Amino acid sequence: MIKVDGLTKRYARNIAVDNISFEVEKGQIVGFLGPNGAGKTTTMRVLTCFLPPTSGRASVAGFDVFDQPIEVKRRIGYLPETPPLYPEMEVKEYVRYVGQLKGVPNSELDAKVNEACERCNVADVKDKLIAKLSKGYRQRVGLASSIIHNPDVLILDEPTAGLDPEQRKETLSLIRGLAGSHTIILSTHILPEVEQTCQRVIIISKGKLVATDTMENLNSRLRGAEMVAVELEPRGGDLAKETVQQRLEQVSGVSRVLFKEARGPRLFFEVESLQGRSIRADLARSIVSADWNLLELHAAGLSLEEIFLQLTGAEKAAPGGSK
Ligand SMILES: Nc1ncnc2c1ncn2[C@@H]1O[C@H](COP(=O)(O)OP(=O)(O)O)[C@@H](O)[C@H]1O
Ligand SMILES: [Mg+2]
Repeated sequence: MIKVDGLTKRYARNIAVDNISFEVEKGQIVGFLGPNGAGKTTTMRVLTCFLPPTSGRASVAGFDVFDQPIEVKRRIGYLPETPPLYPEMEVKEYVRYVGQLKGVPNSELDAKVNEACERCNVADVKDKLIAKLSKGYRQRVGLASSIIHNPDVLILDEPTAGLDPEQRKETLSLIRGLAGSHTIILSTHILPEVEQTCQRVIIISKGKLVATDTMENLNSRLRGAEMVAVELEPRGGDLAKETVQQRLEQVSGVSRVLFKEARGPRLFFEVESLQGRSIRADLARSIVSADWNLLELHAAGLSLEEIFLQLTGAEKAAPGGSK
């Protein structure tokens, strides 16, 4: 459904996107992951025909973004990082207006506006001014206007940026619900969002493609080692954190213990296992048998930073090296 082949975009001297290629199949929901400045927005703007590529090609539903932009735009719904909402308009007016711009026939407009508002959970605020809405609602109004013409492909640029956790959850579950009928690319710099929402992930860093894989494969590639977050309270006076750390380091299967912080008497650690070892049970046993209070222990996700280190490290080590 989406095909990107050797795409490069240069701004003056700056290469924002450097020879990346990937494909997205129909009906998939794909996470486009990368830290700030990685080139996500630039790629999305090329796909939505807002920017011409410097070199390489991209196509949507078989239409080239450069040669056939009208055909491409007809099939794409785009939610930019900051949706261009008009605060002085009512929600239904705005969505209707976008529908007109997108060429929805007048006879169908009202029905389409209702449908889009229903699907994006903004039906209850249809008559309100956009200016009066919370950020979460505004984002969903943006989403409603991006699906008004029922596009095959949805391109959502950081759809959860600036939302609070509750709003994020709502927006992501909404996006999951849209996935069946649309092919979706959503960009984010937050890995758990991709894990919860996407089947595949495309990772870019500094304009270059670092990985493209299914979420499952990526997880097992990266989670060979387990990361465990531990919060505990050593009883019996002022036990130095070094003493606690040493004890954790001696637990069977542990490769590394990182001290994170102390909050009053509570200590926070991150503990990493050796490849393929499960350490949570032994950790818990060791802490309890030292007669310390175990306040929390859970599998911690790898941060995007760590994933990048692992992925780029693995690449560097590729020619013959084991690392
Ligand atoms: N209009 C522009 N002019 C010059 N450089 C730009 C422009 N837009 C983005 N860049 C640069 O291109 C790189 C990629 O930016 P962007 O695509 O916005 O990344 P992301 O969306 O992943 O944060 C960054 O280094 C950014 O500074
Ligand atoms: Mg961006």
